[in-house]
Amino acid sequence: MFQDDLLKEKVVLVTGGGTGLGRAMAERFLQLGARLAICGRRLDVLNQTAQEMREASPNKRGEIFPVACDVRDPAQVEAMLDGVLGHYGRVDILVNNAAGNFISPTERLSPRAVDAVVGIVLHGTLYVSLDLGKRWIASGQSGVMLNIVTTYAWTGSAYVVPSAVAKAGVLALTRSLAVEWAQYAIRQVAIAPGPFPTEGAWSRLAPTPDLADHAIERVPLRRVGDKSELANLAAYLVSDYAGYINGEVVTIDGGEWLQGAGEFSDLRTVTSEQWDQLRDLMQKR
Ligand code: HXC
Ligand code: NAP
Repeated sequence: MFQDDLLKEKVVLVTGGGTGLGRAMAERFLQLGARLAICGRRLDVLNQTAQEMREASPNKRGEIFPVACDVRDPAQVEAMLDGVLGHYGRVDILVNNAAGNFISPTERLSPRAVDAVVGIVLHGTLYVSLDLGKRWIASGQSGVMLNIVTTYAWTGSAYVVPSAVAKAGVLALTRSLAVEWAQYAIRQVAIAPGPFPTEGAWSRLAPTPDLADHAIERVPLRRVGDKSELANLAAYLVSDYAGYINGEVVTIDGGEWLQGAGEFSDLRTVTSEQWDQLRDLMQKR
C-alpha cells in the first residue's frame, strides 16, 4: 500500500516507543524511510529495542536514537527534546503514545494512583506537545502530532476512570490545537485503538484468561487488532498524503465501541429458529 520512501528524511519522535504499539509504529516508520527517536523511562528497554530494530532494518542502517525520559517531568521532557534536536537537528512528527493504565474500582484509587495515570497520559502528552510546539513555532517549522487515545475517550469507561478522563483530555487537546496551531502548519491527528494485545496493556487490563477472552466477545469482527494494522494507519496519518486531515480521530477497533453502544447489539445471540418464532409472535400481534 505504501511506497518505501513515504517518510523519507522525516524525523519521528515516538514516546513509549520501546514497547508495544509504540514500537510497532516506530518499526513501520523506519521501514518507510524515517529517522527515529524513541523515549520511555527504561533506557535498557529502549536500547534493546533500538538494537533489534536496527538489525532488522534494510542494510542494518536504520537510524534510531533512544533517550530516557519520564514525560511526567517537564524538565526531563525539555532535556529529551534538546537531546533529539541535538542529534538530528529537527523533529518533523511527534507520536504521543506513552501511557499508564490499570483496571480498578474507582473507590479503591489513592490520589497517587490517579496522578500516576493522569500524569503520564494527560500531563505527559501536554508537556511534550507544548515544548515541541513552542520550538516549531519559534523556528517556523511545520509538523504533525499524532495522539494515541482510545474509544472510551468519548464514551467514558468504568474501572479505568483516570485513563478515561485523561484520554478525553488528550482528544480535546487534539481538536483544540488542530484549530489553534493550523496557522503554524502544525497538524493534529489521533488514533483510537480497540483491543491490541501487548504485554503492557494485557498485564494491566486483562490479567486473567477470562478477561482476555471477554475482550474478543465485545468485537463484531471477533478478533483483536494486529499491530501492523495500527502501524499502517499511523503511517498514513502522519504522512503528507493525509495533509488535509486535521483534528480527526480515527477509530481502529473492529467495531467494538459501536457494538457496546447499540441498544440491540445483544440480539446477535438469537438463533435463526428463535428469529422465526419471534417473527411469528410479532406478526400474530
Ligand atoms: C490500584 C494501583 C495499581 C492497581 C498501581 N497502583 N497499580 N492501585 N490498583 N493495579 C497505585 C499504587 O499503589 C500507587 O499508589 C500509585 O498507583 C502509583 O504506583 P507506582 O507503581 O508507584 O507508579 P509508577 O511506577 O509511576 O507506575 C505507573 C503505573 C504503571 C501506571 C501504575 O502501571 C506503569 O508504569 N504503567 C506504564 C505502562 C502501562 O500502563 N501500559 C498500559 C497502557 S494500556 P499508593 O497510594 O499506594 O502509593 C492503555 C490501553 C487503554 O492505556 C485502552 C484499552 C482498550
Ligand atoms: P505499553 O507497551 O505498556 O506502552 C506504554 C509505553 O509508555 C511503554 O513503552 C512505557 O515505557 C511508556 N511510558 C509509560 N510511562 C511513561 C512515562 N512516564 N514517560 C515516558 N514513557 C512512559 O502499552 P501499549 O498497549 O503499547 O499502549 C500504547 C498506547 O496505545 C497507549 O497510549 C495506550 O493507551 C494505547 N492503547 C492501547 C490499547 C491496547 O489494546 N494495547 C488500546 C487502546 C489504546 P516505560 O515503562 O519504559 O516508561
